Amino acid sequence: MASRKSSAKCKEGADKYSVLLPTYNERENLPLIVWLLVKYFGETGYNYEVIVIDDGSPDGTLEIAEQLQKIYGSDKIVSKQTSKLLSIGTAYIHGMQHATGNYIIIMDADLSHHPKFIPEFIRRQKDGNYDIVSGTRYSGDGGVYGWDLKRKVISRGANFITQILLRPSASDLTGSFRLYRKEVLQKLVEKCVSKGYVFQMEMIVRARQLGYSIGEVPISFVDRVYGESKLGGNEIVSFVKGLLTLFATT
Ligand code: GDD
Ligand code: MN
Repeated sequence: MASRKSSAKCKEGADKYSVLLPTYNERENLPLIVWLLVKYFGETGYNYEVIVIDDGSPDGTLEIAEQLQKIYGSDKIVSKQTSKLLSIGTAYIHGMQHATGNYIIIMDADLSHHPKFIPEFIRRQKDGNYDIVSGTRYSGDGGVYGWDLKRKVISRGANFITQILLRPSASDLTGSFRLYRKEVLQKLVEKCVSKGYVFQMEMIVRARQLGYSIGEVPISFVDRVYGESKLGGNEIVSFVKGLLTLFATT
């Protein structure tokens, strides 16, 4: 086992994965997600860093991130704070600017996205030489656990309408567990106009337009135990606006 690990390390020695974790009031979740990331990356032997991008959480998430940095080392855990609560899309852009990896993994910090899927994302990317690997809840063994009917309908509805209007041929358009080549993410971010939750959908639609290849990995999304979702009615309104803008302009 030990020799397999070290051979993986040698073989993929040049690749580095930067995990972007946007946080807003995630003090209970952050220690566990970081522990799991360290565990799974440790097992695969890949070089990595975790960048926590906190938007001034009043619950003290940043202090937790700083403690984790001391525990795991500042080469592994990087914490960045934006000046004020902006939006999730802005948090990704901010985090990307500090990323030193050639691949970037974006995921939620509330344990809805389990780090155990990351080795599969990496394998899939390498097997198909994809520009993007997108976690999907709506294909294969993927699924959603713990959401109420309303939330399921909103998510399915958003995916369904977007599929019809924009035909991006990816099965999960609003999910946010993805792996990107860094330069591809940079290109996409330049093209994207939306900054809220609609950002995920715009990214994948633009990726198709620009001809980037997309692989998929089925994931199970488990609703958070600690804290609250920040997706509210305003985000749904801006999703619809963003969708119509994309429909009209692409
Ligand atoms: N820095 C920062 N700033 N982080 C934020 C912000 C923000 O304004 N808003 C949310 N986050 C962080 C949360 O702390 C969490 O780590 C992650 O972004 C996802 O936020 P949630 O509020 O937990 O989202 P959700 O569970 O309702 O929504 C999930 O499903 C959506 C629909 O499929 C996410 O995966 C979304 O990205 C996805 O679009
Ligand atoms: Mn969540």
